[in-house]
Amino acid sequence: MGLTTAQRAAIQNNWATVNSNMQEFADSLFMRYLSANPGDIQFFPKFASAGVGAQLRSNEAFQEQTLTVFKFLGEIVAKLNDLEAAGKMLNERVVTHKPRGITMAQFERLLDLLPRFLQENAGANGPCADAWRVAIANLMPFMRDAFAK
Ligand code: HEM
Repeated sequence: MGLTTAQRAAIQNNWATVNSNMQEFADSLFMRYLSANPGDIQFFPKFASAGVGAQLRSNEAFQEQTLTVFKFLGEIVAKLNDLEAAGKMLNERVVTHKPRGITMAQFERLLDLLPRFLQENAGANGPCADAWRVAIANLMPFMRDAFAK
C-alpha cells in the first residue's frame, strides 16, 4: 500500500503546526484518550493519583509523558519516507510497553484518535487525516508483530 508523496507531505506539513505548540496538542490528545478510557490512567504510576479530569492538564508528570509520546510521533513523521524504519521504531515501543500490560488495542485506540484530532485541533484537512489513516494502517502490522511474540 504505502504512502504517496502527497500524502507524506500532507502529514509532514501539518506536523509543523503540532511542532509549534507541541505540549498543548500532546496534552489535549491525552485528555481525549483518558476521558474516553479513564481506567487507563492506572497504567501511569507517575500521575495516576491525579485522576482523570481538568486538573490533569497542569500535572507535570502528565505533561512530561504526553510530550515524550508526541516527540516520538514527530520522529515517526520525519521517517515516513521509510515505513520499514518507522515501523521498527514503533515495534520497539511495543516491546517496552508489553511488560507494562499495555495491549495492542490500547495502541490502536490512541492512534485511532489522531487523524480526527488533528483535523479538529491542528488544521489538518481531510486528505491529511486520510493520509494519517493510511500511514497508521501501514504501521500497525509492525506493532502487531511485536505483540504476537
Ligand atoms: C502510539 C502510541 C504510543 C506511543 C508512540 C508511546 C510512546 C511512549 C514512549 C516514547 C515512552 C518512553 C519510552 C518507552 O518507555 O518506551 C512511553 C512510555 C510509557 N507509555 Fe507509551 N506510547 C504509546 C501508547 C501508550 C498507551 C496506549 C499507554 C497506556 C494506556 C502507554 C503507557 C506508557 C507508560 C505507562 C509509559 C512509562 C511511563 C513512565 O512511568 O515513565 N503508552 N510511551
